[in-house]
Amino acid sequence: MAKGLFITFEGTDGSGKTTQIERLESFIQGKGYDAILTREPGGTAISEKIRELVLDKNNMEMDYMTEALLYAAARAQHVAQVIRPALEAGRSVICDRFIDSSIVYQGYGRKLGDCVRIINEYAVNGCFPDITFLLKIDPEIGKCRIKADDQDRLELEELDYHRAVFQAYEKLEQRYPERIIGIDAARSIDEISKEIQEHIDRLLGS
Ligand code: ADP
Ligand code: TYD
Repeated sequence: MAKGLFITFEGTDGSGKTTQIERLESFIQGKGYDAILTREPGGTAISEKIRELVLDKNNMEMDYMTEALLYAAARAQHVAQVIRPALEAGRSVICDRFIDSSIVYQGYGRKLGDCVRIINEYAVNGCFPDITFLLKIDPEIGKCRIKADDQDRLELEELDYHRAVFQAYEKLEQRYPERIIGIDAARSIDEISKEIQEHIDRLLGS
């Protein structure tokens, strides 16, 4: 059986990932393919517990390395329990954030450096995305799109942190041009989804 397509979405908060992921799920399923939608940190009962811990507004004292290891731990469980079995069963997987989030937020944003990539290569154990859509928008505009009440611990970080993250995403886009597709996310929802669908059609050969 052919393996499913592993698709990830990346971008700063409020860049429109959730909106586009839901549309892509319907698009892929509409073509008769089996697809599951999942997210990080999360996607399994254990990983969702780690998500609560890491995003809790009361955990402001969390050490940066602790944070990086928790994201990687959540990811290891997610890959082992959900992503790899689905791909091997021929299902496509659409995931809201994956390894690139740790590289940019913890590696660059928290300045932990290359150890984050190394830790995460152990966590994913060879399971890398086939394609990654990087939704690119000025972090300030993204922040304005999210309602103030909805902001979690990381969204409350200073804008400088989010700008460092945005620049780091651009570096990754240059480093992995065959996998990471940069998308201008300041356009309308329809324009963005049309561009994403064209890339998926190309990969599915339809
Ligand atoms: P993310 O998952 O990246 O945080 P969301 O998809 O939740 O982003 O979008 C954040 C907010 O911005 C939502 O209120 C959503 O309706 C809105 N939004 C999403 N895409 C666009 C767009 N292209 N233009 C304007 N608003 C958008
Ligand atoms: P989430 O709320 O799902 O993203 P969004 O607000 O864009 O819909 O993600 C929670 C936060 O976790 C987000 O600010 C990015 C951060 N994050 C990391 O710092 N490292 C990681 O490895 C992952 C997966 C997320």
